[in-house]
Amino acid sequence: MKRDSVFRLNHYPPCPDDQFKGRNLIGFGEHTDPQIISVLRSNNTSGLQISLKDGNWISIPPDQNSFFINVGHSLQIVGRRGLHRFQLTLNSRTEQIFVGHLLPQALAPYSKKMACRVQYSMQNSLWFLSSSRFYSQIQSQRVHSRHQKYFCKQLLLSSSFSKGVRSCSCSATTSNIDADINNSNAEAFVLTTPLYYVNAPPHMGSAYTTIAADAIARFQRLLRKKVIFITGTDEHGEKIASAAAANDSSPSKHCDSVSQAYKSLWRDLDIAYDKFIRTTDSKHEALVKEFYSKVLANGDIYRADYEGLYCINCEEYKDEKELLENNCCPMHLKPCVRRKEDNYFFALSKYQKRLEDTLTENPDFVQPSFRLNEVQGWVKSGLRDFSISRASVDWGIAVPNDDKQTIYVWFDALLGYISALLDDKEQPNLQTAISSGWPASLHLIGKDILRFHAVYWPAMLMSAGLSLPKMVFGHGFLTKDGLKMGKSLGNTLEPNVLVHRFGSDGVRYFFLKEVEFGSDGDYSEDRFINIINAHLANTIGNLLNRTLGLLKKNCQSTLAIDSAIAAEGNALKDTVEELVEKARQHYENLELSSACEAVLEVGNAGNVYIDGQAPWSLFKQGGSAFETAAKDLVIVLEALRIIAIALSPITPSLCSRIYTQLGYSEGQFNAVTWNDTKWGGLKRGQVMAQPNPVFGRIELETEAKNAGDSTKKASKKMNKTPKTQKAVEA
Ligand code: MSP
Repeated sequence: MKRDSVFRLNHYPPCPDDQFKGRNLIGFGEHTDPQIISVLRSNNTSGLQISLKDGNWISIPPDQNSFFINVGHSLQIVGRRGLHRFQLTLNSRTEQIFVGHLLPQALAPYSKKMACRVQYSMQNSLWFLSSSRFYSQIQSQRVHSRHQKYFCKQLLLSSSFSKGVRSCSCSATTSNIDADINNSNAEAFVLTTPLYYVNAPPHMGSAYTTIAADAIARFQRLLRKKVIFITGTDEHGEKIASAAAANDSSPSKHCDSVSQAYKSLWRDLDIAYDKFIRTTDSKHEALVKEFYSKVLANGDIYRADYEGLYCINCEEYKDEKELLENNCCPMHLKPCVRRKEDNYFFALSKYQKRLEDTLTENPDFVQPSFRLNEVQGWVKSGLRDFSISRASVDWGIAVPNDDKQTIYVWFDALLGYISALLDDKEQPNLQTAISSGWPASLHLIGKDILRFHAVYWPAMLMSAGLSLPKMVFGHGFLTKDGLKMGKSLGNTLEPNVLVHRFGSDGVRYFFLKEVEFGSDGDYSEDRFINIINAHLANTIGNLLNRTLGLLKKNCQSTLAIDSAIAAEGNALKDTVEELVEKARQHYENLELSSACEAVLEVGNAGNVYIDGQAPWSLFKQGGSAFETAAKDLVIVLEALRIIAIALSPITPSLCSRIYTQLGYSEGQFNAVTWNDTKWGGLKRGQVMAQPNPVFGRIELETEAKNAGDSTKKASKKMNKTPKTQKAVEA
């Protein structure tokens, strides 16, 4: 059975309409879409303009990479500047669509002018409106949408010309499509970080979860999954209100400012989140109230008095037996306060059996596996109902039908994982949010908030009749002198300072490589500098720099042979392939440190290879030795190309620089997928960029000074301010 899904590429003659005269028309659509008239590229601004039938124009400024508008069931997307991944909004839901993904090199020259229109209703069809030669490049387009239809390798292609219209239609058979629908790669991957308290600006401990989440999200995107990476801020509750008061600020102003500090830090750390939810967003508040009402309707909320010891920093009543001397919280080392309140309670105890069964039947639900025992222990020891409202706290969401109480911050914040899925324009209701990506594939959290995520949250979801997340991963703590680094203890490390001094790649790499994901890890500046110098500046950066230097000197920076041919029968290629496969498996299993290690091993193998082959002397010998040397450089550069992809989830910015040095554009780098780690990407004739160090070695000033003047060493106090050095020795 063959089901055709038609792809058309039309090149239209200039638009007849007078108002478009003098403009460079790149496409003119008269398709089934009733609203679009034309897509134009204006001469003077080089921005794009779209004309709609209702007389409106939409202008896309030249600096905007992608653009979309929603037209009923169909959608217009315009992509420019080599950007190949688009956001697709369909029926108010956000989708991702990959256009031209498999042919980044071939498409790059045309993609600047590419406009495409996707109609995803009856026919699953895709039109390209573009420059004339574009059509011949579409050989293996893959279109990826929410409903997981893929048109990929097996796509049939034909093209025809009639009346000045070039069209290209591609069809895929039903079996091709269905095979891809069942392919797990087509699945959505929704992951979350905790929503951070805004009582103080972010510190390195909070940044750690987000860096890890970003690396995982980037890896999943490389696998072409439809990733929704959610982060945000938890803004209600007593400790936020007190922090605002201590700063002489209103809670809402205070939240705006700290929430913004998180956003800026994420930008500086190259965190590419898709959704940022604030628990003070109105859509979130609406959802929390709806959720509360559902749980109430299910008979799981009741009113009662409660008296106990409360830790404000944990925002939790504590069991006296878990407290230290003077009723101090073991986490925050501050005394808990005795409280008595008339509160609403959630009937957690009702869910004991279902939770036990869930944990037994889904042993992967809590990760790493050693944390599962802990969670099972809590559940087995008996679950007590918990209070989900506060009479004493104003700064929060009012309990429906009782505005004297506010909803407990955890009963509020956990819902952020669902409300984040809503677009601002959408009706804020649970149904809409759920259908946009719930359940989450992965909640990444620190181990201190495991009970909330692996016990309270699943029970709350069960009560509301919603699906459970697929996995909760509790990582360890960054510590200083063995104590959890944190805002409450005030022993934090300033991520802004680290990023400013060492760059985002260094910070990301160090914490992901050196702290085994799941366990605790201590920070020391000396170790930090040693690691990133050794791994990023030397093993990878210097290998690239010296190889490019040799290629420039001897081969005019041009590759003499295809990397696939160069590596025939070569052991390095096999080693690289094995290591890359290892890295992939480690990423899949969230073993981020081991993934880094495997990629680093590729760099080590490259260094061993180049040192063993000594191409610098082979070049001098000339003849066939010269050819061998030229081939060796291609092999090493191909290994580096693969490193740039495989390490990109960890150090995206560094990897982009490596890719650029290898003669690719930024757009081409943005379009790579994990498939591109296959050996053979570099081709004969590819011209490399001018060798330029991609990662500056960090020098401790003491070292620099000591090297120059050893007598100063004895008399001068240690000054450990590191300096990044521009040049990396070749
Ligand atoms: N607001 C709650 C989470 C609500 S999620 C619906 C919260 N916020 S927090 O700002 O206190 O902590 C956020 C995350 O940062 C937690 O996962 C916590 O474990 C993590 N970290 C805070 N300090 C940390 C370290 N020193 N090391 C590693 N992560 C730590 O809890």
